[in-house]
Amino acid sequence: MRTYGCQMNVADSSEMGRHLKAKGLVETQDPDEASVFLVNTCTVRQHAEDRAFSEIGRLKRWKTKRQGRKVVVTGCAAERTKEYLEDRFPFLDLVVGAKSIEDFGRMAERLLDRRETDEDLEYAVAAVDEKVAAFVTIMRGCNYSCTYCIVPYVRGREIYHSMEQILGEVRDRVSEGAREITLLGQTVNSYRHGQHRFDGLLRAVAGVNGVERVRFISPHPYYMSDRVIETMATVPEVCESLHLPVQSGSNTMLKAMMRNYTREQYVALVEKIRQAMPGMTLSTDIIVGFPSETEDDFQQTLSLIEELQFDWGFIFKYSTREGTPAAQLECWPEELIEERHQRCLELVDRIAVRKRSNLVGSTQDVLIEEGGFGRTRTNYKVHVEGDVAQGETVRVLIANTHRATLEGEARVQ
Ligand code: 5AD
Ligand code: SF4
Repeated sequence: MRTYGCQMNVADSSEMGRHLKAKGLVETQDPDEASVFLVNTCTVRQHAEDRAFSEIGRLKRWKTKRQGRKVVVTGCAAERTKEYLEDRFPFLDLVVGAKSIEDFGRMAERLLDRRETDEDLEYAVAAVDEKVAAFVTIMRGCNYSCTYCIVPYVRGREIYHSMEQILGEVRDRVSEGAREITLLGQTVNSYRHGQHRFDGLLRAVAGVNGVERVRFISPHPYYMSDRVIETMATVPEVCESLHLPVQSGSNTMLKAMMRNYTREQYVALVEKIRQAMPGMTLSTDIIVGFPSETEDDFQQTLSLIEELQFDWGFIFKYSTREGTPAAQLECWPEELIEERHQRCLELVDRIAVRKRSNLVGSTQDVLIEEGGFGRTRTNYKVHVEGDVAQGETVRVLIANTHRATLEGEARVQ
């Protein structure tokens, strides 16, 4: 299985993997061994879609190498371009758009029922190893209409899973070894189901036996209510780390993007959250080169980064998505977008490196995920030397840091 794009897609891949395993398939990381190849696509930016398509193109050869092999394409790009995909790659066995992901089990069943073509076929799928830190999808789709974004078109409007279903999934993950649960949704904190709201869900998940840590991605600033902040600050299982996409530091751009908040509102929100949770880490998403973004608008993004001192961030070059309102606007030349991207990355990186180096000499609780690697509550990736077991939380002294990864990798001796 190959997964492109966001954490939501990673979780969808795991869910599909579980469906296939329930039908008797076994995992493999090796394409030569596999009989089913599943490509879970992303279409948020053109680049991700292009990479997935070239991978699909290469699978034609893979498929002919052994009789009965199947190629399945799922996800957001599959939703957006189903007809094109089936046309361009006639060898595909199944194309499942992101909106139909909940029906995947049924569709896969039908695909696997065609087994009579090759009795001995062993279906194989590589699932993502997310044993200790697991993801649970609580909602799908998005009711926002940020003008650059394709997600509402390919994932549809918001639907929420019930509290019972979510808690059931959390218990399942815990029984499989999970200690940390990350709740997922496009605007995860807009969750509501019956009387339940996001803060209540956070508390309930934190209360499940065996859950040590709770995180969530990605919240929308608009729904960061006082109740959510208070829950984060007072429920010990909820980690001191927040990924809060801002997209731009310019009010003109925020309006053009239809983000539903101003720079001042975002700053005030961050101040409130930091006051409630001193020592928390804050990360963000930023888009550079949105149509009509002037040098002055861009400078305001840089000044916001300086002002708020994000611990790390993901900086995206604006990518035109056909069918979105922003696609009507005139684009900046690629070189200009590239140049702003570089400048923004440099600033975010410089702050990230400095912040990370502040960790040295501190004591941190690290939940070990795999191979001596784990994460602090503030979501820094840490390598712990010595004998440590998966799923164990160890208290360590941070000895030194590496510049290697944006998210911060602190080596511990
Ligand atoms: N171009 C560039 N970045 C985008 N994102 C979403 N749509 C686009 C686009 N058209 C970014 C946003 C979002 C993240 C998941 O992807 O920053 O928060
Ligand atoms: Fe896209 Fe905006 Fe919805 Fe996020 S909130 S998924 S950026 S439309």
